[in-house]
Amino acid sequence: MSARYQIGGATAAEISASVEAGIRSGTLPAETALPPVRALAADLAVSPATVARAYQELRQRGLVATAGRHGTWVRARPPVATRRAALLPPPAPGTRDLSGGEPDPALLPPLGPHLAALAATIGPPTGYATVGVLPEVAGAARRRLAADGVPVDDLTLTGGALDGIERLLGAHLSPGDPVAVEDPGWANLLDLVASLGLRPIGVPVDDEGPAVAGVRAALAAGARALIVTSRAQNPTGAAVTADRAAALRTLLADRPDLLLVEDDHAAELARVPLHPLAGVTRSWAFLRSASKPYGPDLRLAVLAGDETTVARVAGRARVGAGWVSTVLQRLALALWQDPGTAALVDRAGRTYQRRRTALLAALADRGVAAHGRTGINVWLPVPDETSAVTALRDAGWAVAPGAQFRIAAPPGVRLTVSALTDADIVPLADAVARALHPPPPTTFTA
Ligand SMILES: Cc1ncc(COP(=O)(O)O)c(C=O)c1O
Repeated sequence: MSARYQIGGATAAEISASVEAGIRSGTLPAETALPPVRALAADLAVSPATVARAYQELRQRGLVATAGRHGTWVRARPPVATRRAALLPPPAPGTRDLSGGEPDPALLPPLGPHLAALAATIGPPTGYATVGVLPEVAGAARRRLAADGVPVDDLTLTGGALDGIERLLGAHLSPGDPVAVEDPGWANLLDLVASLGLRPIGVPVDDEGPAVAGVRAALAAGARALIVTSRAQNPTGAAVTADRAAALRTLLADRPDLLLVEDDHAAELARVPLHPLAGVTRSWAFLRSASKPYGPDLRLAVLAGDETTVARVAGRARVGAGWVSTVLQRLALALWQDPGTAALVDRAGRTYQRRRTALLAALADRGVAAHGRTGINVWLPVPDETSAVTALRDAGWAVAPGAQFRIAAPPGVRLTVSALTDADIVPLADAVARALHPPPPTTFTA
């Protein structure tokens, strides 16, 4: 049944509630196109302004996205729990899934031995008195960041990088405020920005990080915050170089009021040096998540920043969730301090690098230009996302359409290379080359 016949209501509030109920129940899954305003208005015998108001309300809450003549559709991760386990349809059976953006589970360090050691040493249960960051965890986090040149004033912990970014934006900005984000950029961040009612301003990205001219334009357009991925930018693999960092620091020095957020999610996996911007603005935060090196299920990130910013984030957490469990804190500390774990993380970093560069080289051999300086993804510019995704799916590879990551950037698709084997490289590169340059149709001559 088309989305058009699943939406009801006589007022804007009823129409938006009906769309929300459809998202919740799964009848309007992620990326479903909603009917054009006029068509739905005619069906429901209401004015187009009523439907437009309903769509606007859904957009402000981050449930749907609108892009001019492309219409309105349900976001990839609308901020409402759905009864369906997966928001996006699973890849067809038999296809290799390169769409997920996840680390290779086989390359994550095992937690079992550390949990066993923790069980033996954790001591008696603790209560509400133990709030905040354990001193030994804060000390270790501070030393790790300082070793990479991050000027740690204060720090706290959050439930992952995205949780940290949500708290930072919530602490500094109000709904409607413009936020500069990389374009293309991390899909989950775009969904978060939308669900907070903030206005994203896309900053183009090249292999060296956010483009200086793009940041300048975003600042001129009134951006109140800028979010930069330090390394392994998702989806392009960009990493901020020394030159780019110097140019951005010069630019940002004139905007001390801007909230600068750096997301160094590749952290210990990164194979290129960090060039932080931290400290150039008065309000800043530098986030390092445990997800990629140690496992997404840890839900832990270190958030360093200026005293006011950290105090706002930690203080807001205290009146809500409280703190990151000390059980989890101790587990993270054990992982950071274990030389065997460090060796596994180092091996994972080298393996991702080998898989990524092998695919890029095989694509280059076939005349296909793609990006992926660092991290676990390769970004492939394509003329048309739907036909590229379809051709690759028909060849047995599921890839992520770039629409999830883009605001105004040109089309592309993301290939996650984390779990590729050596044997995958040639068939995948062949499939990409065929998808982008299909052979001309054979003509029949009698
Ligand atoms: C750019 C970026 N930042 C951070 C993360 C990790 O986020 P979290 O710590 O919330 O798991 C990811 C995961 O894919 C990412 O792509």
